[in-house]
Amino acid sequence: MTSVASSAVNNNNSNVTDAKRHKSSSTANAAFGAGAGLNIKTAEIPEGKTVEDYQRVYNEIATKISEHLDYDHGDGYFGQLVRNAWHASGTYAVADNSGGSYYGSMIFEPEEFDFQNKGTSIARSFLTSIHVQNPWISRGDLWTLGGVAGVQECNGPKIKWRPGRVDDNTGTKAAPSGRIPDGEGDARYVRDFFSRMGFNDRETVALIGAHVLGRCHTHVSGYDGPWGDDSNNFTNDFYERLVGKWHLKNWDGRKQYEDDDTNLYMMLPSDMALKEDSNFYKYVQEYAKDVDLWFKDFADAYSKLLEKGIEFPEDNKPIEFKTLHEQTVPS
Ligand code: HEM
Repeated sequence: MTSVASSAVNNNNSNVTDAKRHKSSSTANAAFGAGAGLNIKTAEIPEGKTVEDYQRVYNEIATKISEHLDYDHGDGYFGQLVRNAWHASGTYAVADNSGGSYYGSMIFEPEEFDFQNKGTSIARSFLTSIHVQNPWISRGDLWTLGGVAGVQECNGPKIKWRPGRVDDNTGTKAAPSGRIPDGEGDARYVRDFFSRMGFNDRETVALIGAHVLGRCHTHVSGYDGPWGDDSNNFTNDFYERLVGKWHLKNWDGRKQYEDDDTNLYMMLPSDMALKEDSNFYKYVQEYAKDVDLWFKDFADAYSKLLEKGIEFPEDNKPIEFKTLHEQTVPS
């Protein structure tokens, strides 16, 4: 494992031990302006853990990713990890502050068996050996940190991340089924899901560009194939392709689209919805032209997604992890 000198960690809060354990007491709730006071979830950093401890876990995940680059037609584990973190967090409902990544509830029914969560256990199994090495980290922290490493290790933007999710092991916090969208949905459907989580149209379009990574599997979702040829490389290829020409795929599987140029790549109906709706489409066009703009918007929205529903005490400052590459190449 690559060791990280504390000076190598790019964070203005180089020691989070100062952050005391915060209980979900009424005082804590009042201190963080808990709104209607529903389903309060306050981040609690395990005693004595520092930014360096989290960077070490990041490095273990990144190292394991680098050891399995051939996985799934050469996609590696980037996409799996990014999807798992999104599904762990995307159950959030702004109306009652329920769901989200805080409790690490995706291993409990009904959430575990929600059809949309099929396949996400691959990423969680991938992370098991790292959890065994670091039993102090909560599931929610590990899964969301996996998403951060998934983006950053394949050339994506820096995703600011804060620790302190707390496991619930009673199983009573599992999200109801149906909180993660299906690929069949149209623009209204997509907008409804993302506004339930508290995202606007711009953020919605920015998030779905993660479909540059990985692929669909018939044995998981019924859909088939990658969105493009950058499935292990974080680029704005998803938008560049989406603005191109597509037709319905002629097969006996679920309704999906394939590109006119090569017939090699796919789009879900819910991806095409971003093209069909003019307010979504203006962002698709912007991101197709400007990768830096997309990186910035994606980084903000993904970080927000991973933290949905969680109150972070003042002294729990966002961590920006160094990639493995940054730690090995002299600056
Ligand atoms: C309307 C919203 C969305 C729908 C309907 C949707 C649907 C899907 C489906 C059907 C798959 C294929 C699963 C499989 O067959 O293995 C998939 C994969 C994936 N999704 Fe989404 N998704 C949505 C939004 C997002 C968001 C917001 C992210 C991340 C920010 C994301 C990241 C991914 C990634 C990286 C994969 C590839 C996983 C792999 O390679 O196994 N998706 N999505």
